Amino acid sequence: MTGVTYDGCMVSTPSSSTSSPSPAPWLWDDGDYAVTARDLHRLSVEAVRRAGPQSGQPVLDLGTGTGNAALLAARTGARVTGVDLADRLLEEARGRAADAGLAIDFVHGDLHALPFADGSFDVALSVSAAVLVPGARQTAHELVRVLRPGGHAVVVGWHEDSILGRLSTHFPVVSPELIAEDPGWYSPDRVERLFAPHPVTVAVEEIPFGFEAAGEDELVARMTGTHPVLVDARARLDDDAWDAVADGLRATIHEHARPTDDGGVRLPARCLVVEILKDA
Ligand SMILES: C[S@@+](CC[C@H](N)C(=O)[O-])C[C@H]1O[C@@H](n2cnc3c(N)ncnc32)[C@H](O)[C@@H]1O
Repeated sequence: MTGVTYDGCMVSTPSSSTSSPSPAPWLWDDGDYAVTARDLHRLSVEAVRRAGPQSGQPVLDLGTGTGNAALLAARTGARVTGVDLADRLLEEARGRAADAGLAIDFVHGDLHALPFADGSFDVALSVSAAVLVPGARQTAHELVRVLRPGGHAVVVGWHEDSILGRLSTHFPVVSPELIAEDPGWYSPDRVERLFAPHPVTVAVEEIPFGFEAAGEDELVARMTGTHPVLVDARARLDDDAWDAVADGLRATIHEHARPTDDGGVRLPARCLVVEILKDA
């Protein structure tokens, strides 16, 4: 696996180092991403609230995963497309949409080269997805390209100085390049530089967010047992290397998690919401 970064919500590029002739499975199809999607659902609620899609408007959810933001946007009557490289997650998203009676187009596609014409969408959403893709300049270019003039995008991501960034040091699969990339998405300054070449107005706001659990052990078990990056790491590491990863995760969670009023724990994360308005 190459180019994988853990960021609490974690980052990946397709595996390219395998000698197998068949395409490597997409990392995000590993494990049970739906569990993390439940943790992140509140961020999709916030993204859709800010974007305010109108009935009938074309809306794109970039890196839709199991479809959190896409489903919420579709409930407004907007015409929603979700794009992702994770075929298994797209299938889950299609199932959720069918169960909810929502017509959403879920499309296999790469955020580096979106399979849509210029100016196709009034609204673009991306929750912990566009920010995770290596090559921020290319992703930003694609995002702006597919927005119509006057269109609005809301991209949710993470501050570089957050627990999520620090957790990355515990993962041997991690490459620090993504967070080190300049420009990138991981601070207001970086976002400003990222969009400077584009005909847009950008605003960045930090909002409170945390991963909640009944206790620290439950949080560690949830992450190691379900998150695609960790499940993938477990499959590839020998026992000693895996124990080091799990111990590091446990120690970091122990250091940063805080008790909640209901007897559980909350692992705080510095969440950044980027709003992009394309010039009319
Ligand atoms: C942390 S998940 C977020 C999923 C969803 N937005 C949510 O809020 O639950 C990141 C998603 O980005 C997708 N992704 C990562 N790199 C991508 C790329 N280059 N092109 C398309 N999707 C990508 C992954 O497959 C995964 O579904």
